[in-house]
Amino acid sequence: MAALITIRDLVKSYNLGNVKINALNGVSIDIEKNEYVALMGPSGSGKSTLMNLLGCLDTPSSGTYVLNGRDVSSMTENELADIRNQEIGFVFQTFNLLARLTGVENVALPLIYAGKSKADRNERAAEMLTAVGLGKRMRHKPNELSGGERQRVAIARALVNTPSIILADEPTGNLDTKTSLEIMDIFERIYNQGNTVIVVTHEEDIAAHARRVIRLRDGVVERDEPNPTPTLANRAAALRPEAAQPQSPAPGA
Ligand SMILES: Nc1ncnc2c1ncn2[C@@H]1O[C@H](COP(=O)(O)OP(=O)(O)OP(=O)(O)O)[C@@H](O)[C@H]1O
Ligand SMILES: [Mg+2]
Repeated sequence: MAALITIRDLVKSYNLGNVKINALNGVSIDIEKNEYVALMGPSGSGKSTLMNLLGCLDTPSSGTYVLNGRDVSSMTENELADIRNQEIGFVFQTFNLLARLTGVENVALPLIYAGKSKADRNERAAEMLTAVGLGKRMRHKPNELSGGERQRVAIARALVNTPSIILADEPTGNLDTKTSLEIMDIFERIYNQGNTVIVVTHEEDIAAHARRVIRLRDGVVERDEPNPTPTLANRAAALRPEAAQPQSPAPGA
């Protein structure tokens, strides 16, 4: 069977004045359905550029990208937007939440484009927030939430359209170690539900959760190896059904 993601000789160049920068310089990778991949590499090696192409947020200068049997490298802006809505959930380092909207409204946003009624949107958004342990904080705005809570809202938003591919660009970059591990538990659960997870990270102990580690350098793949001993410390917790339930309120709350 063909891979979920097939990229061949992917090149992305930017023109800065007279200088041409090849952010990606011929990258070829296959990723199967239900893989868990960490993408690593020094600053400037092309990680975000590759994620933006994989996430259909941008188009390559040359090379091909076949996603789920469809050649997306030559699609129009509108076609790409459709693919994004159907197939891909994106999580960013800086959360990218709308400040004036509550958690539930932020999460419900992608469903507007999917043409769902308001009641349906809010119900679905509430379910997703509950699944990431934020059932009690749905009406809070981003500035009333901690960094980890904001990232959980962003993950709920990424999941609300039930995409099969989750792309996360340094999702724990702004979080402390404990909160980072809670976020990695959520990714573990998403992976265990059969989805494909690709995470950019600078941290080896975050990458250690993935089952495969791809390292970029200067816009090319430097190494691509399975991780035979993934970190599973919290796997039992991640798999427990109650992990998907809202947490009970703190005493006195
Ligand atoms: N819009 C742009 N215009 C010009 N050059 C760009 C643009 N975006 C990225 N680049 C350049 O492309 C190269 C790869 O950038 P990219 O953001 O993919 O790196 P990265 O691996 O994600 O780095 P970091 O770890 O710092 O996030 C860099 O040299 C960068 O300066
Ligand atoms: Mg980057």
